[in-house]
Amino acid sequence: MPLDRSDLYPLGAQVTTEQFTDQPYEVLEELCRNEPVSWLPALGGWMVSSRDLAVEAMRDDVRFTVDDPRFTTGAILGISMLNTEGEEHQKHRGLFAPSFRPGVLRRDFDDYLKAEVSSLLAGCDPSGTELRTQLAGPLAVNTITRFLGLEGVSSEQVLEWYHNIAKAITDLTVEGRVHGADQHAVNQMKHRVREAIDNDQAAEVLRSIKDSGALPPDVLGGAAVVLMFGAIETVEGMIANVLWHLCSTNSWRQVAADRSLLSNAIEESLRLEPAATFVDRYATTDAELGGVVIPAREKLSINLLAANRDPAHFENPHEFVIERPNAKQHVSFVQGPHGCIGNHLSRMETMAAIEGLLDRAPEIVFDAERSTSPEGLIFRKPENVWVSW
Ligand code: HEM
Repeated sequence: MPLDRSDLYPLGAQVTTEQFTDQPYEVLEELCRNEPVSWLPALGGWMVSSRDLAVEAMRDDVRFTVDDPRFTTGAILGISMLNTEGEEHQKHRGLFAPSFRPGVLRRDFDDYLKAEVSSLLAGCDPSGTELRTQLAGPLAVNTITRFLGLEGVSSEQVLEWYHNIAKAITDLTVEGRVHGADQHAVNQMKHRVREAIDNDQAAEVLRSIKDSGALPPDVLGGAAVVLMFGAIETVEGMIANVLWHLCSTNSWRQVAADRSLLSNAIEESLRLEPAATFVDRYATTDAELGGVVIPAREKLSINLLAANRDPAHFENPHEFVIERPNAKQHVSFVQGPHGCIGNHLSRMETMAAIEGLLDRAPEIVFDAERSTSPEGLIFRKPENVWVSW
C-alpha cells in the first residue's frame, strides 16, 4: 500500500498552529533538521524551513508563484506588485521603486523621523511607558501616511482602515469568505484614497503615476493601500522586537555606550523575530525542492522564522548575539523579485526610534514583569514592552 503524506512527513503532520504561535523555536528546528520541506495539514499545504531551500524557492518565481486567486491580500485589494509576476510585476514595482531608494528616503525622511520620534517621546511618561503602543505603532502609521501624502487623512483613520483590511483578510483565511461590512469598509477606503489622488491631495509619486496613466485609477488606489497595509503592523513589530531584544537582554547599555553596535543589533533582532513570519507561494508545476516534489497548484509556505534560525547557517541560532558576523543574512525582508520594497524605510524608522530613545534614556529600566515576549503565528511582536527612565 502506498504511504500517505502523514507517514512520509510525520513531524509536519502533527504540527498545530498553536505550537507555531507562542514559542515555536524547538519544533521549527526539528522540522528544519529532519523535514526541511514538509507537509503540514495545519497550514493547508507544504512548508519549507531550511534557509537554503527557502532562498531557492523565493528566488524562483517561475516554479513558485504569487499569481494565484487564492492569495488573500490580492483577493481583497486587487492586482498589485504583491500578486503579479514577470513583466507585469516589474511594471507595478518599477513605478514605486524610485521613491524607496535610500538616498531619496534620507532626503525626505531623515529630519521628519527625528522630529516625529522626539514628539512621540515627549508625550511618554518617564515613570512608566509601554513602547509598542506609545512609540512603535504611532511612528509606523504616521510615517506611511506621510509617505503617501494623504492630506486630510488622520492617523486614526489610517489605523481604522488597516484594521478593516486585516479583518477582511482574516475572515477570508479562516471562514473562506469576506463579510459584506468588511468589504464595504475596504471599498470605501480605496475610494477615499482614489479621491485624494484625483484631487491632487497625495504624494508626488502617486500624482505622477496618475498623470502618466500608467495604472488605471482603481488599480492605483489599490497600490497605495497595499503600501499602507505593508507598512503598519510590520514596522510596529520590527521596532517593538528590537526594543524587546535590547531591553530584555541588557544590551541597551552596550548600545548606549557604543552606538556603532546598533545597526547590527537591528539586523540580529530581525533575524530572531521576523515581524512577518510566512510568505506563501503556489507551485506552477510539479516542482522539486530539496528532494520533495510539490504537486502543481499546491501551496508552499516559506517559514522565515525557521530559515533565520537554521542551525546549519547560524551558530547558536536562538541566542541574541549583538555582534553576530552574519546577522544580516536573515531573510526577514525576503529575497528574489518580491523582496520587501520598504526595507530601507523600515530600517530608518527603527534606527530613528531607538536613537531617539537612547538620547533620552541611556539608562532605561526594563519592567520584565509587565512586558511580554514576541508571539504570533503570522505577525510576531511583543504585546507589551514596559520601561521607565
Ligand atoms: C515602510 C514599510 C514597508 C512597506 C511600505 C512595505 C511594502 C512591501 C511591499 C509593497 C511588498 C511587496 C513587494 C513585491 O511583491 O514586489 C513587500 C514585501 C514584503 N515585506 Fe514589506 N513593507 C514594509 C515593511 C516591512 C517590514 C518591517 C517587514 C518585516 C520585518 C516586511 C516584510 C515583507 C515581506 C516578508 C515581504 C515579502 C512578501 C512576499 O514575498 O510574499 N515589510 N513589502
